[in-house]
Amino acid sequence: MFITTAIDYTNAPPHIGHAYEKVLADAIARYRRLKGEQVYFLTGVDQHGQKVQQAAEKEGIPPLAFAERISASFLALWEKLGVEPDGWAKTTDPRHALAVRKILQSLYEKGDLYKAAYAGFYSVRQEQFLTEKERGPDGEFGPEWGQVIEIEEENWYFRLSSYGEWLNRFVEARPDFVLPNFRRAELLNAIGKVSGDLCISRPKTRLAWGIELPFDPLYVTYVWFDALINYLSFAGYLAEPDAGLPDFSELWNPRALHVIGKDILSPPHGIYWPIMLHAIGFPDDRMPQLLVHGWWNLGGAKMSKTLGNVVDPSALADKYGAECLRYALLRDIATGHDADFSEDRLRQRYNADLANDLGNLLNRTLNMIQRYRSGVVVKSNGEGPLSGLAAQMAGTYRQRFDEFQVHSALEAIWSFISECNAFVEKSAPWKLAKDTARSAALDGVLYDLAESLRIIAVLVSPVLPKAARSMFDQLRVTEEPSLGNASWGGLPDAHAVGSPSPLFPRLDEDTPPLKASGR
Ligand code: ME8
Ligand code: MG
Repeated sequence: MFITTAIDYTNAPPHIGHAYEKVLADAIARYRRLKGEQVYFLTGVDQHGQKVQQAAEKEGIPPLAFAERISASFLALWEKLGVEPDGWAKTTDPRHALAVRKILQSLYEKGDLYKAAYAGFYSVRQEQFLTEKERGPDGEFGPEWGQVIEIEEENWYFRLSSYGEWLNRFVEARPDFVLPNFRRAELLNAIGKVSGDLCISRPKTRLAWGIELPFDPLYVTYVWFDALINYLSFAGYLAEPDAGLPDFSELWNPRALHVIGKDILSPPHGIYWPIMLHAIGFPDDRMPQLLVHGWWNLGGAKMSKTLGNVVDPSALADKYGAECLRYALLRDIATGHDADFSEDRLRQRYNADLANDLGNLLNRTLNMIQRYRSGVVVKSNGEGPLSGLAAQMAGTYRQRFDEFQVHSALEAIWSFISECNAFVEKSAPWKLAKDTARSAALDGVLYDLAESLRIIAVLVSPVLPKAARSMFDQLRVTEEPSLGNASWGGLPDAHAVGSPSPLFPRLDEDTPPLKASGR
């Protein structure tokens, strides 16, 4: 399976929205591997375009130097958060430029590109020309477009409109092209309104920071046309054999999964992209699938630099740990929908879910096994109540993860963890230990708890890879985790577990919350 994320703009450092998307894709990739699938996970950075040129100008440094510095902050964050891509898409990579130019040249030769003059209104912020449809009810272009200027220029156009009917038929015929379904309905609505062609060039006089058109050196490629192609170029499409890129025919087989935010569904990923692929000869059955996630907001408002309310994911990870941030970002948002981010909520998740529920269960279980049985569990003949609950939970987990509803998969695990903690209270091993006649019952309880923890470790591993590793180490389980070994009974008879060490140490309650930082 080929999984990609959006490539992040390098005009500003990462915020938690970027972190969420990469952690979501990373967790999906890890889950698919747990299922035994071959996975190639691609993420990266979008380095060209007006936003980057403008940000660099402000600092008085070359755009490449600026983009590289910001790119390094994204890379450092992924390393810190345990986001482990197999490929790194960076649009200034010459291997990418090669693919973009080859694609442009072939569209040019096919007659899908033409040059024309255009006069109109242009949004500097959104880097696009505006039409009458973009005017608000008051006849003005709304504040979402930022500075709007009037310009006239000659540019190159892609015959988007001649493919509108094909796209409509394709999306109608492919109910799972866009997930979740309500986003697909939005897209169908937007496709109905497509008119006109796509301007795919910028004159160098206005914007020099991009990939030069192979057939007209006075122009560079429009940043979206350039950026979307990363999903092909870094998948090895049209690459030189020694380029060090994957084998394209294996990767897009049958199709890619693009994890993207709701703001870039329509038009870029839902309209431009399938039409570009169709125009260069991709059959319908190789079209990608779009998993569209919602947004993390702050105090009900959109995160923005100008509002000065951007939360720094790197600082949150330093303070609470990368695993806690991964967990909080995936636990408190339903894939496809928006949610409100708060550090208080994250802190609660840390204390309640990670330190108390999961951390304590591991700690007390290993302690009791050490104290009452010198670290050795005895596999019982009968099956206690946890075995049935574990199987049920694993089934729900799998179904939810397959539907990309990660929060719901986590919910299933945590309700099982609660059952396990309740089981400790109810079976009271400390009482059983005092009664030699109930020795077999104590063995049963301890085995069931250790075995439950082993299964929990397997299933949390896509979201909490480090904590899972530590759980396996403490349980002395050496098997590579897979969904196949998440079924009951894997821990052998007479298995010796290790001693506990805290998974999620208690937070120092005096530590003040981070201040939202303007950048
Ligand atoms: O759009 N919550 O880059 P980008 C969740 N370079 N996700 C968010 C978010 C938030 N508050 N804010 C942004 C671009 N995102 C282009 C993509 S792909 C060929 C080119 C998501 O840095 C956003 O939806 O503005 C997008 O998927 C990703 O972060 C990068 O956004
Ligand atoms: Mg954006």
